[in-house]
Amino acid sequence: MRIAFCCTDTRAEPWLQGLGQALPGAVVEVWRPGAPAADYAVVWSPPQQFLDEQPGLKALFNIGAGVDALLRLRLPKGARVVRLDDAGMSVQMAEYVCHAVIRHFREFDGYEADMRAGRWSFRKPRSRSDFPVGVMGLGVLGARVARALSVFEFPVHGWSRTPRTLDGVRTHHGRAGLPDFLSSCRVLVNLLPLTPDTRDILNRDTLGRLMPGGYLVNVARGAHLVEEDLLALLDSGHLAGATLDVFRTEPLPADHPFWRHPALTLTPHTSARTLRDESIAQIAGKIRALEDGQSIAGLVDPVRGY
Ligand code: NAP
Ligand code: GLV
Repeated sequence: MRIAFCCTDTRAEPWLQGLGQALPGAVVEVWRPGAPAADYAVVWSPPQQFLDEQPGLKALFNIGAGVDALLRLRLPKGARVVRLDDAGMSVQMAEYVCHAVIRHFREFDGYEADMRAGRWSFRKPRSRSDFPVGVMGLGVLGARVARALSVFEFPVHGWSRTPRTLDGVRTHHGRAGLPDFLSSCRVLVNLLPLTPDTRDILNRDTLGRLMPGGYLVNVARGAHLVEEDLLALLDSGHLAGATLDVFRTEPLPADHPFWRHPALTLTPHTSARTLRDESIAQIAGKIRALEDGQSIAGLVDPVRGY
């Protein structure tokens, strides 16, 4: 069995070693143009030439949860596309989002500023019932985040494409369910995949439907957000702030207005990182299952886009 490794911006050596150990007998190599075609591929943002040189590929394993970049390419016919299915990401995402929501709700950013100014001052306690949180996307990551937020007793709403039920979460679905979902929330967390249906979904109209003093946490993809609409809603006072981990252009350009906006908290696309050992174990397990003719979780539907 040949496994090609073709991941941009990723140090190959530990992956080759880990995959080789988990799949004894497999030849695991970094792809070079003209190399023999592989049975399986482990990829992140591969060049089109790599895919064009893989006529007999059985499956492409994306070493991230989001497959938007991969699905923009022409894929080899018959190859399954497999995304990372948690592999240690959902707990990181739950940490990140709960931290962002609690930091905003408890005004810890204000206390940090007070501390730096040597100021001892109390803020009035706020009521959780005034801070309903909405989670867009109730998949592997969104469901975990919604559950984690409900542990902190925030009223939690969730929105998905098809109907979902989750303990402790009021769920909504489909385009028809979107206005009700948005108007029920003050804090909005985006965990949707980027697809033609969800591109630009965070815009003046949708964000404008949040309760006054709304707050956005975008941890999915930068292209979900219309950046100038966010700035306009912050400047009008309808939104109180946002925590953003993803951007239309990454790295965020040095002259981007987000860097200097006082109501924004920015991180460099780091809310849920790919964990190498967990990912190798998951991919190797799935390759073994496919070789044994078994079904696997985490298959992407290229038509649906996630
Ligand atoms: P997932 O398991 O595929 O879940 C996707 C969820 O979105 C599902 O609940 C799905 O609805 C819903 N959805 C899709 N299209 C929709 C639409 N048009 N309208 C309403 N709901 C829709 O994905 P995941 O593993 O949770 O990951 C979500 C995204 O997080 C990834 O695609 C990636 O972009 C992002 N991500 C970011 C980072 C980071 O570090 N910032 C890390 C990992 C992932 P159904 O339940 O009805 O199918
Ligand atoms: C990261 O953004 C991922 O999709 O895994």
